[in-house]
Amino acid sequence: MSMTVADQTASDARPSTDGTSEPTFEDLARRVDDAIAALDKLEPDARGVADELKNAIEAVHRAGLVVVVRRMREDENARAVLFDLVDDPVVHLLLSLHGIIRPDPTTLANRVLTEVRPQLQSHGGNVSLVRIEDGTAYVRLEGACNGCSMSSVTLRNLVETALVEGVPSVTGVEVLPNEPSPTLIPLESLRIGSDPAKEGWVRAAATDEVVEGQLTRLDLTTGSGTDVQVVVVNLEQRLTAYLNECAHEGLPLDDAMIDRSNGTLTCPWHGFCYDATSGECLSAPGAQLEQLPMRVDDGEVWIRVGT
Ligand code: FES
Repeated sequence: MSMTVADQTASDARPSTDGTSEPTFEDLARRVDDAIAALDKLEPDARGVADELKNAIEAVHRAGLVVVVRRMREDENARAVLFDLVDDPVVHLLLSLHGIIRPDPTTLANRVLTEVRPQLQSHGGNVSLVRIEDGTAYVRLEGACNGCSMSSVTLRNLVETALVEGVPSVTGVEVLPNEPSPTLIPLESLRIGSDPAKEGWVRAAATDEVVEGQLTRLDLTTGSGTDVQVVVVNLEQRLTAYLNECAHEGLPLDDAMIDRSNGTLTCPWHGFCYDATSGECLSAPGAQLEQLPMRVDDGEVWIRVGT
């Protein structure tokens, strides 16, 4: 059993009704999962006996439940009660575990994702289901599932195929953007004082030299004479400056490809893909381009490269 009962129920835990003795839904699910985990530690013979006991008890429960459900379906009044009961999370889980009703799409989708997750994780990726709406499963992808490399496309296809084939009511999958994590530059560092050079600011270019939708390489020199290579990305007139070094092997980004439609910058050397406006690496979690403080003042672009 690759998906735990607690996985299926995690979002539906309910408190006890009397506040004292009734275990919550989550407690019940955890107890089943703990018992199943303990089974795995038994010697094969003991495991066989325990499995048989579990299967025998489940068979009795299933047979009894089938009779109850069938009789209730046949009676008009009881049918309404049955439909009500099926909406109860515990009853729903019980009947779906016994195969008497189909699991709801969310349970089914979580089960499918549990099965593909080990493969994603072995490549440094992960997936979580956000919701299912009008036949579309909305998911968030992490790590190596993001980005534009072949392997991330393959992982995304794996998720999509598994959901569409494994959940009958799902006909499409949409990947939601992850929460943005821009590089925060302290406001203080953006102020230009009376002596900009002393504070590490360099006049880098005129604004019309950094063309929209393109990456512009600038060779700058600090006040103490050190050469610094910088690239400026202009996406919809939003400018961002980075040190001209890929976070992978530090190679220059001059010929990086800018994709205006999805706002990414792809390193020409080995294909690391970045969010062009934050420098966050979408191919390797945690990697980041070094963003430089920048200001636009009276048609001039100023970049702080150090003294
Ligand atoms: S140096 Fe950029 S991907 Fe390797």
